[in-house]
Amino acid sequence: MSPMLFSDGRSIKIQRGFAEEQRAQAARLFDAAFEAKLSLAFPQKHVRLAVLRESFNPEFCLVAMRGPRLVGIAGFKTPEGSFTGGITFKTLRARLGVLDALRAIVVLSIFERSLTSGELLLDGISVSPRLRSQGVGSLLLRHVVAFGQTQGHKSVRLDVVDTNPAARRLYERLGFVPKRTVRFGYLRWLLGFSAATTLEFSL
Ligand SMILES: CC(C)(COP(=O)(O)OP(=O)(O)OC[C@H]1O[C@@H](n2cnc3c(N)ncnc32)[C@H](O)[C@@H]1OP(=O)(O)O)[C@@H](O)C(=O)NCCC(=O)NCCS
Repeated sequence: MSPMLFSDGRSIKIQRGFAEEQRAQAARLFDAAFEAKLSLAFPQKHVRLAVLRESFNPEFCLVAMRGPRLVGIAGFKTPEGSFTGGITFKTLRARLGVLDALRAIVVLSIFERSLTSGELLLDGISVSPRLRSQGVGSLLLRHVVAFGQTQGHKSVRLDVVDTNPAARRLYERLGFVPKRTVRFGYLRWLLGFSAATTLEFSL
């Protein structure tokens, strides 16, 4: 897949993982996209950023680089591990104390999705707000699909909530097919959305 060229001549390159010193950039990028969801578990921004920074498993993501800057990130989960798999009760307890760690784990369990055999599960995709709608997200998603194929997976799966129709349009445009929708209107007051649809790309 060829890199994407911007009008200023700088190109976007997709690579697997990022360097240790880019953990803070990755945490900010992820938080920019998932703040609403993550703040249910970690209301304070500095705590959220620290937890993300310390718990990411960089080998379970593809990133978009513009020069030295990380501008897009697509985390995934496979039977070997997951991008956010470092968020455990044990690691949270060390930072938050028992009660807040327990609370965070319970909240995060609402969003936890299990993996079925042969699947690569997309664990969250985020593009730097200033670079959205310029094709970076599509490039990342195409690379995730190609990566899934080379790793011998049978499908790439992701979930999208009903309050994000634009992201759903993007996934469908790229060939992801809606499979099922789970409704949980009774949790809308807490989650901010009332349904999530699973989409799949068969490889
Ligand atoms: C969704 C996202 C990764 C797409 O990346 P991108 O680089 O903007 O994607 P592309 O430029 O390849 O495609 C743009 C399409 O993405 C969709 N899109 C979804 N959310 C968007 C957003 N916040 N801003 C712009 N486009 C968005 C639109 O359908 C858009 O198509 P359009 O320009 O024809 O309206 C990015 O917008 C993002 O980080 N959004 C916030 C986090 C998020 O919603 N993640 C997905 C959770 S399931």
